[in-house]
Amino acid sequence: MAKLNFKNKRILITGASSGLGKEIARILAYQEEAHLIIAARRLDKLKELQKEIELNSKSRVTVIRSDLGKKNGPQLLFDKAVKLGKVDAIINNAGMTCYGKTDTFSLIEFETIFNVNTHAAVNLSYLFLKYFLKKKSGAILNITSQAAFLPVPYQSVYAASKHATQAFTEALYQEYKKSGIVISSFAPGGIATEMITKSGLNEKFKSESRLLMSAEKAAKLAIKGFKKKKYCVIPGIQMKMTNFVNRFIPRKCLTSIAAGIYKPRK
Ligand SMILES: NC(=O)c1ccc[n+]([C@@H]2O[C@H](COP(=O)([O-])OP(=O)(O)OC[C@H]3O[C@@H](n4cnc5c(N)ncnc54)[C@H](OP(=O)(O)O)[C@@H]3O)[C@@H](O)[C@H]2O)c1
Repeated sequence: MAKLNFKNKRILITGASSGLGKEIARILAYQEEAHLIIAARRLDKLKELQKEIELNSKSRVTVIRSDLGKKNGPQLLFDKAVKLGKVDAIINNAGMTCYGKTDTFSLIEFETIFNVNTHAAVNLSYLFLKYFLKKKSGAILNITSQAAFLPVPYQSVYAASKHATQAFTEALYQEYKKSGIVISSFAPGGIATEMITKSGLNEKFKSESRLLMSAEKAAKLAIKGFKKKKYCVIPGIQMKMTNFVNRFIPRKCLTSIAAGIYKPRK
């Protein structure tokens, strides 16, 4: 099967202002010679990345400020992106979490998490799928998480949002595998990014922080799997094995183990 070739293709990456999305942008520009549309809320961070990439490569980078926490965010981003010219692939990477007992957060916080992690990924996948079907080519990569396969106490809404996006993406893969449109998902375990520090997960897992994958390595594996048109990539041997073994343990038991691991210190 021929691999995806991103050279001179235009790729939209959501959540490119930091972490995994930023490293994916660098790999696509420096190694794959793709042109980019980078989106997120923090315009200053996006412009910094645009400047860096355009200075060091032949890639053309367009910046779009986009708030995917808002219900109309995905449609606005789609409209702006396709107005720029042909878009060849989308990477739905934007994401957020919160860490702690469920009753300590507000419903507004949960709605925003669902909007960014699920609603935006589903809506942008849908809008681009229809756009790609018309062109008879295109590729969609949805970044989910290991939390897409197991309930995570103290990150209950995050895990629920990622379960939905994973299920949606796997279903899309089967529906469109003969259409010429590539659908893939990337489900990593812990990555050392702002998501960990902003949520306070770094405080809980201080001593385990060396076990986190670097954003650079995770991005490399995400693009490698996407190019190979993989159904779902789980990066790292440790995560692959955990994922495999988990299939044979009752879900209630696994969730109870996860509750012990994730229980906040205070
Ligand atoms: N870090 C981990 O351990 C880990 C593990 C598994 C999966 N993942 C997944 O990997 C993806 C990238 O996360 P990361 O670890 O790289 O975290 P990160 O560094 O916090 O990056 C998250 C990105 O999402 C964007 N974003 C957040 N809220 C947004 C909103 N309302 N509208 C538009 N963009 C928004 C952020 O940009 P702005 O703030 O500028 O808007 C940022 O660019 C996420 O889907 C996450 O669930 C992460």
